[in-house]
Amino acid sequence: MPHADLDIEHPEELIAYMREAGRLEPGETPRIEILAGGVSNKTVFFEPEFGQTLVLKQALAKLRVKADWFSDPARVHREAEGLRALIELAPVGTITPLAFEDERVHLLAMYAVPKPHENWKELLLAGRLESGHVAAFAELLGTIQRRAHERREELAARFADRRFFESLRLEPYYAYAAEHVPEAAGFLHALIAAARARTLTLVHGDYSPKNVLIHKGRLVLLDHEVIHWGDPAFDIGFALTHFLSKAHHLPAQRTAFADAAILFWNSYLEALGEVPWRGDLEACAVRHTLGCLLARVAGRSPLEYLNPDARARQRAAVCALMTSPPPSIPALCGEFLAQL
Ligand SMILES: Nc1ncnc2c1ncn2[C@@H]1O[C@H](COP(=O)(O)OP(=O)(O)O)[C@@H](O)[C@H]1O
Ligand SMILES: [Mg+2]
Repeated sequence: MPHADLDIEHPEELIAYMREAGRLEPGETPRIEILAGGVSNKTVFFEPEFGQTLVLKQALAKLRVKADWFSDPARVHREAEGLRALIELAPVGTITPLAFEDERVHLLAMYAVPKPHENWKELLLAGRLESGHVAAFAELLGTIQRRAHERREELAARFADRRFFESLRLEPYYAYAAEHVPEAAGFLHALIAAARARTLTLVHGDYSPKNVLIHKGRLVLLDHEVIHWGDPAFDIGFALTHFLSKAHHLPAQRTAFADAAILFWNSYLEALGEVPWRGDLEACAVRHTLGCLLARVAGRSPLEYLNPDARARQRAAVCALMTSPPPSIPALCGEFLAQL
């Protein structure tokens, strides 16, 4: 089988592969750039002289983190399926169209987000927090989850396989943290059970500013490999964790990031509208926020910008709040800051 062992981070191999697949003219030399930043995939920017610029992704079997962490590279095809669904569900321009996928080499290609663009996480860490971005980020999730719920008959079955959510989120975040923080084990195992039982709508599973590019002031969402039919409170908790951990990390902007978390929640609810599971969503989202705040300091994938002291402080804050979780997202934000 030609190119069965293709490694897209080797430009000569990639060029030969693309030529053979008829995706590159014989005499054409593309500009190739290996993109750093992801931990779970090889990601390469592929710009031919003619034709559209692509980003190619090939899943890694062993993730690029300190702790050993493995996952089936076939998950890149789940991401391709996610791209096909999300482009119909999300607001225009927020999802990159899929160009092609190749199951033999666990590869997908999507159209590149035009340059110039900036990674939202980098903007946030530089202190460039804009409420318009926060509201758009929340509306994007609320819109996807409302529309997916409306199309549940079709989508629940298409995204029923939760293998990658199990192996890339529940195990490394919650189960691993439960092993290392015994006082949180009961809380985290209950959260795992709730996440498995609440199969309500499409869940992105990696809803983080790191997976958002900003081009001409608009957000584009990337990285859909753990998408599944499940508990929307997970995405809310995962996203809020990023605002609250940055509130922790950047004391000068502590209130601004806590306000961003509240704005996120309110804008999300507005975009979500009336769904039958709206009633207990906030309580579940509070618990996933606590779970993710802890997992990002005591799981397999700790936030690199929090130093050991900050990690210990965040862990203690979460453990203090876990015994009787705050009744609302705004209360959670206030109490978390008060604990730091
Ligand atoms: N369609 C795209 N256009 C431009 N840049 C992209 C595109 N897809 C990915 N990237 C860049 O590659 C990085 C890693 O991609 P991502 O899908 O998040 O992979 P990983 O699963 O490894 O985190 C992104 O943060 C972004 O900078
Ligand atoms: Mg990513």
